[in-house]
Amino acid sequence: MIKQRIGRKFLTSLLILLMIKMKIENFNIQHYPEVLELWKKAGIGVGSSDTKEEIALIIARNPELFLIGKEQEKIIATVIGAFDGRRGYVHHLAVDPMYQKKGYGKAIMDDLIERFRKKKVHKIHLFIQKQNKKVVDFYSKQGWEIRDDIIMMSFIPDNTLYKRSLDEQKL
Ligand SMILES: CC(C)(COP(=O)(O)OP(=O)(O)OC[C@H]1O[C@@H](n2cnc3c(N)ncnc32)[C@H](O)[C@@H]1OP(=O)(O)O)[C@@H](O)C(=O)NCCC(=O)NCCS
Repeated sequence: MIKQRIGRKFLTSLLILLMIKMKIENFNIQHYPEVLELWKKAGIGVGSSDTKEEIALIIARNPELFLIGKEQEKIIATVIGAFDGRRGYVHHLAVDPMYQKKGYGKAIMDDLIERFRKKKVHKIHLFIQKQNKKVVDFYSKQGWEIRDDIIMMSFIPDNTLYKRSLDEQKL
């Protein structure tokens, strides 16, 4: 009985793997306009750290950690990884709403985690806005744990630079 159940679970996972057609590549700056559209569609808030210039900076510091997922040349998923030499960080995990619940979010995240592993990163953090609580279940399924021993605080060193959300012309 248990053997049968494990067998069925294995076959289902294999089938899902075979059905996954998304190709994962490194982001390059030519992808920026399409990626920006995807973030907006997926409800990712874009702020002053998401201008083309700021994105160019993060990929210069973290080459091969900003990933895009493509299905037939259309960008349908993104994730930004960053390593500060001590901890890894994940930003802007997003899957086009038309392609969600097909295993793509997990697939692109697994690829990023493998890249962190190769860099020998000890721990990876990510931040979820409280209004987006429903996504916690997705991460919990992948083994992420909520930290209740830490209080996150932020400080803005230059108010002229930071904007939580940006209008179209500034992006
Ligand atoms: C979160 C997100 C990236 C998930 O992508 P996805 O491609 O739909 O997820 P997957 O299909 O890979 O899901 C993997 C597993 O998590 C589950 N899952 C996906 N979204 C879930 C959710 N909101 N709640 C609970 N489980 C969820 C899937 O059912 C699947 O479970 P299974 O392995 O048992 O079949 C996607 O919903 C998204 O882009 N959301 C909007 C942007 C966002 O909130 N990003 C996170 C910012 S912190």
